[in-house]
Amino acid sequence: MAPSIAEISEKQEVSSITVPVKATTGSEETAPKVRRIIEEEGEGKTPASYPNYLPTWDHGEKYPPLEPFVHVEHGLDADPAFKDLLPEGSTIQKLTPTIGSEVHGVQLSKLSAAGKDQLALLVAQRKVVAFRDQDLADIPIEDALEFGGYFGRHHIHPTSGAPEGHPELHIVYRNGSDGEVEAYFAGRNSSVQWHSDVSYEQQPPGTTFLYILDSPEVGGDTAFVNQVEAYNRLSPALQERLHGLTALHSGFEQAEFSKSRGGVVRREPVSNEHPLVRTHPATGEKALYVNGGFTRSIVGLKKEESEALLAFLLNHISRGIDYQARVRWAPKTVVVWDNRVTAHSAIFDWTTGERRHLARITPQAERPYETPYKA
Ligand SMILES: [Fe+2]
Repeated sequence: MAPSIAEISEKQEVSSITVPVKATTGSEETAPKVRRIIEEEGEGKTPASYPNYLPTWDHGEKYPPLEPFVHVEHGLDADPAFKDLLPEGSTIQKLTPTIGSEVHGVQLSKLSAAGKDQLALLVAQRKVVAFRDQDLADIPIEDALEFGGYFGRHHIHPTSGAPEGHPELHIVYRNGSDGEVEAYFAGRNSSVQWHSDVSYEQQPPGTTFLYILDSPEVGGDTAFVNQVEAYNRLSPALQERLHGLTALHSGFEQAEFSKSRGGVVRREPVSNEHPLVRTHPATGEKALYVNGGFTRSIVGLKKEESEALLAFLLNHISRGIDYQARVRWAPKTVVVWDNRVTAHSAIFDWTTGERRHLARITPQAERPYETPYKA
């Protein structure tokens, strides 16, 4: 079977493509198989800047299906003047008119509850915000998770690597030393794969955090697209037609891909139907909620109709550089985005062998809903 878009996008993110699973703790009979990057790098040594964040894959780790929970949307309580988030002396600059901002002079981990509420609102409005000079990677992992947990229940990824004892962290890791780039581009023209993280869950993530641990000097940026603006650009006639439609989002292909590579499947895969247009609870904005990673079909349409409409919408999103932003990583950067109203893509463009290592905190949000169409 040809790899699907979801497989490729997740493979970029977790880099579990080229290294086979190895049994590394105890004997195969007595201990779960655990694959550790640090052991693959030789004698328990690694040049990684944050070895505590290196991923492991534990085949003994199994989780039951996710249960519904009540999400509290903190952006709703936020003061839109942002005084607790952006105090005097801090700076905020737009990356583009419709999406993306960059902030200096704020320490996320020290924010008050009011500041965190304002962070949720700012990120919903700007879609993605890069905060420079952060200490999130330097404080204990428990404290980083406590900070992120304010924004929603931590999502535990079904297939990705995580630091031992912290399955709530999704680790993005590539050391580029294994012919991976050549193998990838032997079969693909471009690495761009737009997706919204784990949109197959019944309550997909909202305010989401990604922080850099090691990065190539140049390359490995992350691109974001504003799905509210993508919706706004559609004609009223098409906007109206999309209302009431739902699409199927599937995690099955990702689980299959992980299995086929000898990876883990911590939780049985699921699929869910979500509205094609969802409303953001804090801003009231409507966003197109389809992505190339996980959206498989439009419910109620015949196969050719579904494929044609989905292809149009995904092409519309991917070509909209006039409502996209590209974030360049620098040491100690934390990027915060709202997965409900954006899609993003890793950019796989450096061939220097430099390590790219990031950690994602992925709080889940409400079940997607839409409000009535208004002309
Ligand atoms: Fe992602």
